[in-house]
Amino acid sequence: MPRLVMGAGSSKQAAGKAAADLVRDGVLLGLGTGSTVDAFLEALARRIQAEGITVKGVPTSAKTAQRAEALGIPLTSLDEAQELDLVVDGADEADPQLRLIKGGGGALLREKIVASAGKHVIIIIGEGKRVPRLGTGFLLPVEVLPFGSKVVTRHVAGLGCQPFLRASDTGAPFVTDNGNWILDCRFADGIADPEGLHSALSQVPGVVGVGLFLNLCDLLIEGRADGGTRTYTRT
Ligand code: A5P
Repeated sequence: MPRLVMGAGSSKQAAGKAAADLVRDGVLLGLGTGSTVDAFLEALARRIQAEGITVKGVPTSAKTAQRAEALGIPLTSLDEAQELDLVVDGADEADPQLRLIKGGGGALLREKIVASAGKHVIIIIGEGKRVPRLGTGFLLPVEVLPFGSKVVTRHVAGLGCQPFLRASDTGAPFVTDNGNWILDCRFADGIADPEGLHSALSQVPGVVGVGLFLNLCDLLIEGRADGGTRTYTRT
């Protein structure tokens, strides 16, 4: 008999299913980006089919739009919806205050705009993403305009990090859905002051998005490899 192997994938699925179970009939949803969100979309599609609930989703990336369409989840635009009942997204790191690093999938700018339109934001993660201090295990993504990127990179480095231009599989710069580039920034000892860093990075001309999400997560759902979940609320 095949043995069920539990791992990061199953913890992401557990988180995705728990979030899908919280979706009420008739809501406008923000749909994040990433593999955990893919698990959420699959669980949501199963509910749509089994229970006939109606929802409309605003995708944060071309990838999520494609995935949702393939699963039969109806979509709308943010300009059409304007205010979202619930946003569900993933994260790369979460600290005890539910401050996040996001942008591993390159969708940080749209993710932040969509989260800002949400009345309630649920972040879903698999095991291993809760950290005592942000930036210790994951590089901080910063979206920048291609124009003058060397100057922008120098200014970003001046804030105490080592920025790396993200590359695509071909070796060319990775291009976001907005036509921009991403600097993945390494902080030797992690990020001591996320609020101060966010404010300083936001003031650098040419920076259009910072992967620090500081006051946006209302509920964090952490999936476990055994299929259970733990939840954390922002106080
Ligand atoms: C996408 O840009 C990111 O913010 C994702 O939400 C994040 O990288 C989480 O991805 P996974 O769910 O694939 O781990």
